[in-house]
Amino acid sequence: MGEDGTLGDLQDKVCVVIGGGSIAPGWGIGKAIAVSYARQGAKVAVADANLAAAQETADLVSAEGAGAIAVGADCTDEAAIRALIDRTMAQFGRIDVLHNNVGIGKAGDPEATTPDDWRRIADANITALHISALAALPHMKAQRSGVILTTSTIAAIRHIGYSHLPYGVTKAAAIQFSRLMAIEYASYGIRANTIVVGIMDTPRVRVTLTGAYGGDEEAMLARRHRQPPLGTMGNAWDIANAAVFLASDKARYITGTELVVDGGLTATTRM
Ligand SMILES: NC(=O)c1ccc[n+]([C@@H]2O[C@H](COP(=O)([O-])OP(=O)(O)OC[C@H]3O[C@@H](n4cnc5c(N)ncnc54)[C@H](O)[C@@H]3O)[C@@H](O)[C@H]2O)c1
Repeated sequence: MGEDGTLGDLQDKVCVVIGGGSIAPGWGIGKAIAVSYARQGAKVAVADANLAAAQETADLVSAEGAGAIAVGADCTDEAAIRALIDRTMAQFGRIDVLHNNVGIGKAGDPEATTPDDWRRIADANITALHISALAALPHMKAQRSGVILTTSTIAAIRHIGYSHLPYGVTKAAAIQFSRLMAIEYASYGIRANTIVVGIMDTPRVRVTLTGAYGGDEEAMLARRHRQPPLGTMGNAWDIANAAVFLASDKARYITGTELVVDGGLTATTRM
């Protein structure tokens, strides 16, 4: 219930956010998504390979007055993801939203990318989507409702100005995974959509991308701010707001598609 007494858009829904921590202090996208789901009335199971990061987000969810659990789980680990879904069912009794937010990559010269890099990145960005769906779908089918959301990137549909090959390719597969699952499970009332994220200002970009832009963090941030037509990078809340909408019944007729949240960037040639 909001402060004004109105119900939130996700009132009493149960959401699972995989990759719900943040790689460094501040607001990563999964962390903002989990807290935004809670602010709209949802209970949230926060999973992350880094249990401390999951716990930090779960504490923020609890501080919103919402039910929360934190689970340490690698998205590529079938047993751990099954345990996450089992724990969510035991604690909250249903699963309305499964949000796959993990994204890893290796920026740099494509020729320095090894087959092992590809396997590791594809496992986390693609195979993990299937692993979590396998665990959650039986419950969603039994409920005859559910929402599967995936966080992708404009690197899945454009070259973004620096080399990020396996990331872009695997995140493109994530978009198609979501589209095809939307069709496969539409008859159960299950929707699946992807958020295509633009150039954002999150803790992760400072940690992982400064090198890809030449090593100067301030110059990297300034260059990224100049790119989107709206004149600035977006932030984690811009993505969380889109996620709340797609997770909610207000998006009940939206499935098998993407919501691009990029300040207009992919409509230009400014990459
Ligand atoms: N930040 C951006 O500019 C940007 C742009 C486009 C897309 N995205 C996408 O948004 C999503 C979140 O990005 P972010 O910037 O908040 O990143 P982040 O790294 O801060 O958050 C992701 C979380 O995932 C966790 N994680 C990593 N590997 C995992 C694994 N194998 N299993 C479980 N958890 C794992 C990390 O510990 C971290 O807490 C990613 O899918 C990313 O590809 C981000």
